[in-house]
Amino acid sequence: MSHRILALCGSQRARSMSAGLLRACRDLAPAGVVIDVFEQHKDFPLFNPERTDVPPGVAALQASITAADALLIASPEYAHGVTGTIKNTLDWVVNHAPFAGKPVAVLNPAYQSFHADEALKETLRTMSADLVLDACLRIPVIGSRVDPDRIASDPRFATPITAALRALVAHVERANNSV
Ligand SMILES: Cc1cc2nc3c(=O)[nH]c(=O)nc-3n(C[C@H](O)[C@H](O)[C@H](O)COP(=O)(O)O)c2cc1C
Repeated sequence: MSHRILALCGSQRARSMSAGLLRACRDLAPAGVVIDVFEQHKDFPLFNPERTDVPPGVAALQASITAADALLIASPEYAHGVTGTIKNTLDWVVNHAPFAGKPVAVLNPAYQSFHADEALKETLRTMSADLVLDACLRIPVIGSRVDPDRIASDPRFATPITAALRALVAHVERANNSV
């Protein structure tokens, strides 16, 4: 069976390790799994609940979430919190009904960044995401000196990434079989 996973990065940096991690996930995706790395959220305006229009990139994100079997998020920690980029992105889809129940895996790209990891997971639980703990990883590419474009070919990272992706897909298939 084929599956589509939507990947979101919480960093804006050109040489972001989190973005490199998501590209590695895309390259290591199991057969039949397509991972789309979304980019337009990096230009979203700041969320304002009084806005009645839906900015174009936000509509694209909503459509991508609706179509996705699962979400994958990789984001760094800034000052012991989540980055503005990932929080703003999630704020724009708080009321997007298909987000609720969507399987989500969080990849924490650093060893020491536990505050943001917990805060992000708490936000996702509050948004009624189906947080797939088996597929969540602490995978310290930050500080490892790995080239962000070579994560997929580094066995320190390729092995746990492959296992996490398999766990996410297995969860999606179990969920699909139970309906
Ligand atoms: C403003 C700022 C605040 C940061 N605060 C933290 C922090 O609280 N904890 C931490 O582990 N790393 C912190 N870092 C280091 C980032 O995790 C590191 O720069 C990382 O490479 C950023 O992720 P990226 O490569 O995906 O952009 C901070 C970096 C910046 C620029």
